[in-house]
Amino acid sequence: MSRKIYVFDTTLRDGEQVPGAKLNKRQKLEIAQQLAKLGVDIIEAGFPCSSPGDLEAVKAVSEQVKGPIITGLARAVNQDIDMVWEAVQHAERPRIHIFLGSSDVHLSKKLRQDRESALSMAVDAVRYAKRFCEDVEYSTEDASRTDFEYLCRIVDAVIRAGATVVNIPDTVGYAVPEEFGDLIRRLKENVQALDKIVLSVHCHNDLGLAVSNSMAAIRNGANQVECTINGMGERAGNASLEEIVMLLRTRHASYGAHTDIRTEEIYRTSRLVSRLMNIPVQPNKAIVGSNAFAHSSGIHQDGILKDRTTYEIMKPEDVGVRQNKIVLTARSGRAALRHRLNDLGYTLESDQFERVYNRFLNVADRKKEIAGQDLRSIVEIELTKVTETYSFHS
Ligand code: KIV
Ligand code: ZN
Repeated sequence: MSRKIYVFDTTLRDGEQVPGAKLNKRQKLEIAQQLAKLGVDIIEAGFPCSSPGDLEAVKAVSEQVKGPIITGLARAVNQDIDMVWEAVQHAERPRIHIFLGSSDVHLSKKLRQDRESALSMAVDAVRYAKRFCEDVEYSTEDASRTDFEYLCRIVDAVIRAGATVVNIPDTVGYAVPEEFGDLIRRLKENVQALDKIVLSVHCHNDLGLAVSNSMAAIRNGANQVECTINGMGERAGNASLEEIVMLLRTRHASYGAHTDIRTEEIYRTSRLVSRLMNIPVQPNKAIVGSNAFAHSSGIHQDGILKDRTTYEIMKPEDVGVRQNKIVLTARSGRAALRHRLNDLGYTLESDQFERVYNRFLNVADRKKEIAGQDLRSIVEIELTKVTETYSFHS
């Protein structure tokens, strides 16, 4: 039976921490509405204590966005929790998300606390939040560098205090998949109470492993993943929502788990986030990059034109991309050229086609990509023998 994985989107909180990506209330609302259309289960709309503007934005999302659970982040102090509650209380389904460092390096260098006092702070914070809200998530910040026995004690204690979700972050992207999967498995074996609540993971991408670590955690029993659109987030970013979702869909048999994401909304959401945050998506980004469904070498183009499963493991339409792209370059072959000429309405005799093909290669060696207008010019030149005065569009 397929297990449901809850998708917790933190584009508006961790994603928005990217320098230069700051969003105003109207922009956060627009993204949150689109995230609801995409079908995420939880939207982390912001960090209300960070600024009055963010408090207002989280409030607006809570009041206007229907469907997903809406949450905001709080440190393990009453004042932050009050502010999150002020911001999310009118949501259809509110959640308070509390975090506190748990590794020795965070405790000693950042919080200047010992393990015992941090543990009671965590428990007090969860108990305080439960006065307002049934749904309380607790994050053990820097969990992947935390002493295992201590981590088990915190997880057990916050569940007893009422936490409904426990999140295990790889805050600095230090974990590797085998180790992170193992951590989740051992936690489940050692803390019985985890069976009754949602076990979440939140992975950063400092070593490029955020998605792999999240997948290893899912394999070992995690049932919520925290992620962002386009992998936006602190430093090298967070686990990318679109990659996790499409991995679970494309390799479903291997994971036996699914999400309820409407994948056809992925591309639209990616473009919206990129435009409003003013951060371009790298062309070779998996799933949503402009080259993710583009084919440029002759051998690949020939294969795709015969049967697209030769070089495509997903349908572009499934992620909301209208169609794949056959890009004409100097590496393209006759099959792609003929296909494009047909699209443009040309049917050529074979000697005409060969002349066009040779001229095409000549031009393509000088240009990175041959656009439709270039191709029309090449054909017209060859068919009418108009010569070299023509200038190609760049
Ligand atoms: O990376 C992290 O540990 C976080 C927590 C606040 C969940 O963002
Ligand atoms: Zn984070």
